[in-house]
Amino acid sequence: MTCPSPTPDASPNTDPVRVHDESTWHQLTVPVGTYLRRALLRHDLSPYTRRTQSLNCDGRGLCATCGVRLGENAPSPTHRPNRLTAQYGSPRLSCQIAVDRPLTVSLRPNKRIWGARVLGAHEDADDSR
Ligand code: FES
Repeated sequence: MTCPSPTPDASPNTDPVRVHDESTWHQLTVPVGTYLRRALLRHDLSPYTRRTQSLNCDGRGLCATCGVRLGENAPSPTHRPNRLTAQYGSPRLSCQIAVDRPLTVSLRPNKRIWGARVLGAHEDADDSR
């Protein structure tokens, strides 16, 4: 799979995020500072599997079910689990990544955590992560 770079955004308060969801590229415009998990869920691009869609830690960085792959322009991990996963080439926790630059994201097509990933699912939680 090729990961094209996101195109620059004209707005200083948003960043472009390109997301590959197993078959299609999606171009999102995300307000700076938005956590990637929240941005994905708002666009019905869930990082979760069917079961973890409702059984997760709501973005607290505890359950490790919101992992995604990032392109080469990814920010350095600041959250301890993300530092460890990045060190070993594992997926990054989307709930611990505040969007502050153009990003390329790949939802994991073969994700198996208590079942397969769900396309088009979203949640109604009002948290910020
Ligand atoms: S939602 Fe639990 S670690 Fe990200």
